[in-house]
Amino acid sequence: MESIWTKTCSIPPRDALPGDMETEIAVIGAGMAGVLIAAALERAGRRVLVLEAQRISGGQTCRTTAKITAQHGMFAQRLIFTQGEDRARQYVSANLSAVRRFGELIRAEGIDCDYRESTAYVYGSAEKQLRLEAQAQARLGLPASYIPNPQLPDPALGAVGVEQQAQFHPLKFLCAISRSLTIYEHSPVQRVEDNVIITARGRVRAEKIVFACHYPFVNFPGLYFARMHQERSYVLALENAAVPEGMWVGAGEGGFSFRSWNGLLLLGGKAHRTGENVSGGKYAALRAKAEEWFPHSREVAHWSAQDCMTADGLPYIGRYAESRPDWYVATGFQKWGMSSSMVSAVLLRDLLRGKPNPYARVFDPGRLSWKAASGIVSEGWQAAKGLGKNLFQIPSTQAAELTPGHGGIVFLRGKKAGVFRNEKGEIHAVKLRCPHLGCQVEWNPDECSWDCPCHGSRFDHRGGLISGPAQERLGPGAN
Ligand code: FES
Repeated sequence: MESIWTKTCSIPPRDALPGDMETEIAVIGAGMAGVLIAAALERAGRRVLVLEAQRISGGQTCRTTAKITAQHGMFAQRLIFTQGEDRARQYVSANLSAVRRFGELIRAEGIDCDYRESTAYVYGSAEKQLRLEAQAQARLGLPASYIPNPQLPDPALGAVGVEQQAQFHPLKFLCAISRSLTIYEHSPVQRVEDNVIITARGRVRAEKIVFACHYPFVNFPGLYFARMHQERSYVLALENAAVPEGMWVGAGEGGFSFRSWNGLLLLGGKAHRTGENVSGGKYAALRAKAEEWFPHSREVAHWSAQDCMTADGLPYIGRYAESRPDWYVATGFQKWGMSSSMVSAVLLRDLLRGKPNPYARVFDPGRLSWKAASGIVSEGWQAAKGLGKNLFQIPSTQAAELTPGHGGIVFLRGKKAGVFRNEKGEIHAVKLRCPHLGCQVEWNPDECSWDCPCHGSRFDHRGGLISGPAQERLGPGAN
């Protein structure tokens, strides 16, 4: 399902990796983070090459709602509590600098990307909490204030507004920034061994390697699978819908988001852990809200996106692992991919040049805290559940009982299998074992895909790999 960004901007294609190469720095992933990191390093005089598995911006960047903001929902009180005020202030400062940097870059280079300043709001009905959040955000350095009774279709008693944030068209921006970079598309990485990246099309030897591929696929070292999962959320683009001024996100779980672009309203929401949407209905629920709030609106596009959620709620940007001094990573951006991508670009530019950066400790992937430890325990429990289901869950239906256009976990010729029955009644069967670390994948009726609840890998209805950390397709046939 195409987003409005891909419908309105196409980035010129690039060649695949032509063979073996050497470079100073190799970046894996040409989404917003990878391109910004590569651009920052190249502008600092480094020789950089980018490897992309699909197309530039073909992962999550073309699915973002593209809010450039340091206002990260109801985050300030939580961050002060879990990280302490100094670190929380540094987190805000890094993100505010990132927001400003987008504006400076766009103005300096005259990039035509529908950029405009906008106020970012988090809204809800827990008035006291919102007032406290406004105070906490202001204490951390954000230009935040409490706004009573915001005029929104989703009833709310209050909001926290932060001025001087921004929104843009992410692909128009990326198209301009990526123009001068050396990027090879359709060159998925199979393995990384020390300073060599191995692809089916050739090997790239690099002094430094940056993993900017959304979810890092090297499990050991790093152990990112033990401290990060993924969440999906859904978006409708509506025309003829009254557009509230500014960018809005609901406080807490189940909240909606609103922003406008070119006369369209982007209505987002219905987030869930990837792999936990077996009953579906997310688009239907959003459409019901659109019907209720904007009865004269018309849907012009719908799509969904996926975010990496870390154990302690902060991104991992820095050294990949102590035992790999030449590897770096930028991941775990939560729902805030735009500002976090820019934070990554500046931070990694400095780290790779051996220069100090004031925010290195806050984002250090090797950090440890009680919050991170409790998150790791919770991720471990989820993984154990996913593995256990694959071994012990018994299907309740037979493949023949699936209605056309539906999929599910069923018995097929006496064995457990993931089966999709298409509209012609033809059956596509896959093994349910995720090739990443072996959890059982689950059917997602909204996307007609097999999604893994452990770390969020996704596969199409035939088992083809959509996104990692898995690097292979699902096996065909029954378990
Ligand atoms: Fe890790 Fe499936 S994504 S086991």
